This record gives sequence, structure tokens and C-alpha cells, in this order.
Amino acid sequence: MIEAHSRGDLQQALAPHRQAGRRIALVPTMGNLHAGHLSLVELAAQHADVVVTSVFVNPTQFAPGEDFNRYPRTLSDDRTALESSPCDVLFAPGVADMYPAGIDNTVIIKPPPKLANRLCGASRPGHFDGVLTVVARLLLISLADVAVFGEKDYQQLLLIEHMCHELGLGARIVRAPVVRESSGLAMSSRNQYLQPAQRQLASALYATLLSLQARIRQGERDLAGLEADGRRQLRDRNIGVEYLQIVAAETLQQPIDSDRQLRILVAAILPGARLIDNLAVDLI
Ligand code: PAJ
Repeated sequence: MIEAHSRGDLQQALAPHRQAGRRIALVPTMGNLHAGHLSLVELAAQHADVVVTSVFVNPTQFAPGEDFNRYPRTLSDDRTALESSPCDVLFAPGVADMYPAGIDNTVIIKPPPKLANRLCGASRPGHFDGVLTVVARLLLISLADVAVFGEKDYQQLLLIEHMCHELGLGARIVRAPVVRESSGLAMSSRNQYLQPAQRQLASALYATLLSLQARIRQGERDLAGLEADGRRQLRDRNIGVEYLQIVAAETLQQPIDSDRQLRILVAAILPGARLIDNLAVDLI
């Protein structure tokens, strides 16, 4: 595995591969890699010849007062983890490389409000502007043929797919399933903000999603009632619920009768961390 720390380094590292006709896959991350991230690297290797993993804690996607400063930065552990993965290039740029004109003077990509202003976008204004802005740059710098994103951040994934289609960025987006701990808790760099007891409690998120999924599969269709039950299940365990919604999987809007693919999405507040999770429900 080689390392690149600037745009120029990355482009130089990738040029011979592109000339040789090799397909390039990009796995964007903010580092502090866990098994969820590494599953994306494995999947990327199945779709391309050369895998680039980026590690960059992107300042523009954090609002003032969010966890940008305390977000775990563990590049040396990340390097070790990637060395025993199919990653070929670790791209770890600095802020000035990603935002050469400075953050206050940069070009921002704005997602459509219909998709971006609900769910996580409702409580994190501007968050998805920052995500799309950095992902577009990473795709343009690497000229990747394929990019892999996790379903863990489901709204983010849909917005990135939408952006690539709209802007004709050319990369095919591959969706990677959520990787969970044995308790069911979705793996996340933010789980380490939790005390052990809270971490145990957080597994209730997945349990709640599973119970709602089972009830829909058994034929229940009062989605508002199911959402209310889900919220109650979590609040009864002292878990704060920012949102719990059952939506049409591809539009994130309230489902209509003809929608066959639904998604249950939740954002929960525990002492020390805000956690998100989601689960698909396909109606037959
Ligand atoms: P980060 O939270 O580091 O996640 C990087 C990628 O790993 C995302 O595509 C995310 O969905 C995926 N991922 C995280 N946890 C996962 C899990 N348990 N199972 C499967 N996939 C998982 O998401 C970001 O960084 C940033 O917003 C980024 C896209 C890199 C832009 O800065």
C-alpha cells in the first residue's frame, strides 16, 4: 500500500493505473476505521483493480458545536488496518488540499431540500452540503470508476447517488450493507463516546427496528402507529429519539400504497453520542 497526502501525490499515484486501463475504486472515510469501513474496502476490491481509501475529517460537514474537535483521529492505527486489507492507496489529505481557497471562500454543493432537509438534515443544517462538497471533490481528484458507501448513513448514500447522477460525475456508486456488533449495534466511530452501560443500551435501536420490520412484514400498515410504538420503546429505555420514521426507501417521503420498498430510520440521543441506524422492509 502506498500513501498520498496531497492531490498531486494521489493523481501521480493513480496515473499509471489509469494508463494501464485499471479500474479505480474510492472508499471515502473520516478514519478511525472499524470493521464496517473495512467491509467497504473489501467490497471495493470486488468491483475494481485499484482501491483508494481516503481518510479526512471533513470540517465543512460539522456544524459549530458538533464533535469536529473531539472526532477521533487515529491515522497510524488506520494505516495498520488498511495494510492488512485490499487497499492499494491511502489518501490522507490536509484541509488546505481539500479546500485550497480556504473554507470561507470555497465552492459548496447544495443538495435538493426535499431529500436533504428531513431526517438528519432537519437537525444538522448544512451537514449534507459539506458531505456532498467533499465527496464531489474526492471523486473529481481520484476520477474513480466506482465509489463505495455504507447503508449505515442511508440518507447520505441517497444524496450522493443523486449528486453523481445529476452532475454526471461518472462514478458508479456501490451500496454496502450495515456491519453490526454482536449486540446488533451498528458499528460507528461515535460508539466509543458511549460508556459501557450506554453501549449496551444502544443495542435497543436495532432491536426496535427489527420489531417494527417484523410487524410490517406481518401485515400491519398503520405506519404512524408503528412509529409511535417504536419511539415509545426507545423512550421507555431512556433513549432520546430525535426521529423514528418509516419512509419510501428511494425518496425518503411518506410511503404511498404502491411503494414496495420501505426504510425505517432512527436517530437517537444517548449521553455522549447521537447515533443513527436504519433497516429495509421490502413488501411482497
Ligand atoms: P464515516 O462516518 O467515516 O463513514 C465512511 C463510510 O463508512 C460511509 O460510507 C459510511 O456509511 C460507512 N460506514 C460507517 N459505519 C458503517 C457500518 N457499521 N457498516 C457499513 N458501513 C459503514 O460517512 C462519512 O464518514 C463521511 O460523511 C464521508 C462520506 C467520508 C464524507 O466526509
